Amino acid sequence: MWFDWLSLFLRWFHVIAGVAWIGASFYFIWLDNNLQTPPDWKDKKGIKGDLWAVHGGGFYEVAKYKYGPEKLPETLHWFKWEAYTTWISGFCLLVLVYYFGASAYLIDNNVMELAPGSAIGLGLALIFGGLALYEIACRSPLGRHPKLFAVVFLIGISIATWLATQWFSGRGAFIHIGALIGTIMAGNVLLQIMPSQRAMVNAVEKQLPVDPSWGEKAKLRSVHNNYLTLPVLFIMISNHYPMTYQHPNSWLILILIGIVSAWIRHFFNLRHLGQTKPAILVSASIAMLAIAIWVSNPDLLRDNTDVPAEQQAERIVPTDARIQQLITTHCVSCHASEPTDEMFKVAPMGLVFDAWQDIQSKAGFIYQRTSISKDMPFLNKTKMTDAEREEIANWYLLAPN
Ligand code: HEC
Repeated sequence: MWFDWLSLFLRWFHVIAGVAWIGASFYFIWLDNNLQTPPDWKDKKGIKGDLWAVHGGGFYEVAKYKYGPEKLPETLHWFKWEAYTTWISGFCLLVLVYYFGASAYLIDNNVMELAPGSAIGLGLALIFGGLALYEIACRSPLGRHPKLFAVVFLIGISIATWLATQWFSGRGAFIHIGALIGTIMAGNVLLQIMPSQRAMVNAVEKQLPVDPSWGEKAKLRSVHNNYLTLPVLFIMISNHYPMTYQHPNSWLILILIGIVSAWIRHFFNLRHLGQTKPAILVSASIAMLAIAIWVSNPDLLRDNTDVPAEQQAERIVPTDARIQQLITTHCVSCHASEPTDEMFKVAPMGLVFDAWQDIQSKAGFIYQRTSISKDMPFLNKTKMTDAEREEIANWYLLAPN
């Protein structure tokens, strides 16, 4: 029980920190894109951009300096703990749920038979190895070509995602790519943005010239983070949607949705600059719809010659007793008032199949998760076969109710 409470508090805290971080990221990118040429008297003080806003019953005047103020103000706000606390709480949550619960959440023996230690090792290698490669790429000449960098980044993330889906359960794979991107984002703050800003502050303090490349490097990383916000949020909520992580081409779904969501972010960034391009939103919506149709109708892509009529007639409707037997064999170890599973001591989602009425009233749910999304039995721990899944489908679709 303490495990669930700890997980609740950590997740809650993680979401709050993440809201603060991403909110600040959105706000500052918006700010930067909306700055206007300041009046002369401000220009003379070294202010390159000027912005007025009204919020919460007051007027705000914001000024951005080209290099820095002549004298450092007494209080300077930094905005780094939003990023750090999001990362720290997220990492603790990953360890708690996916590493302590590796055999339940991270490892899927149908994907790869891994000992918990090896799976955790692979997970950490993916996250920190990925971070190292990203840092090297940013600091190499590639870092100076934003568009080329984006292409290389996309290829790298695609490879990482594909690898993760070859090693881990669907959810485990997705969460590791989310963790990798989140780590890159927090790393951008810790490893580039903060050091650049410290150098700038230092220079202002000592009245030395501010090297513009510090600001530029920090700005580039901040733009990377901005484009990664929507994809990373999708990945974080994707574990509620088995049709994505359970799909045979789950890695491709993650990448495609990631690209489309970054494209949507691009629309807002342009809009803040005063360029409204509805074509971006329209194309993004069409792409998202196309992905949804493809994911929901795998038959569209398969060469699916119709099942011959005589074969259809052969479809037998299983008896209720047969269905209850299937559920008892494959589901009740977890979904019972007193589960016998070594991991799940409380029926997951409060779903209990002890009595026939429980099964009957949840028939739609059962069909959905065993025959459509196929994410139940959880990680197919109780080894339900495709033939058995078909029996459930036939019962649900064909039995008179
Ligand atoms: C090893 C334990 C385990 C077994 C066996 C298992 N489940 Fe689950 N089930 C879970 C867990 C864990 C969840 C919650 C998943 C999540 O967090 O998204 C769940 C969730 C569900 C849900 C979703 C409930 C909701 O409100 O969204 C359904 C439906 C379900 N299971 C049906 C089944 C059926 C049918 C079987 C047998 C064919 C089965 N489960 C076997 C662990 C199990």
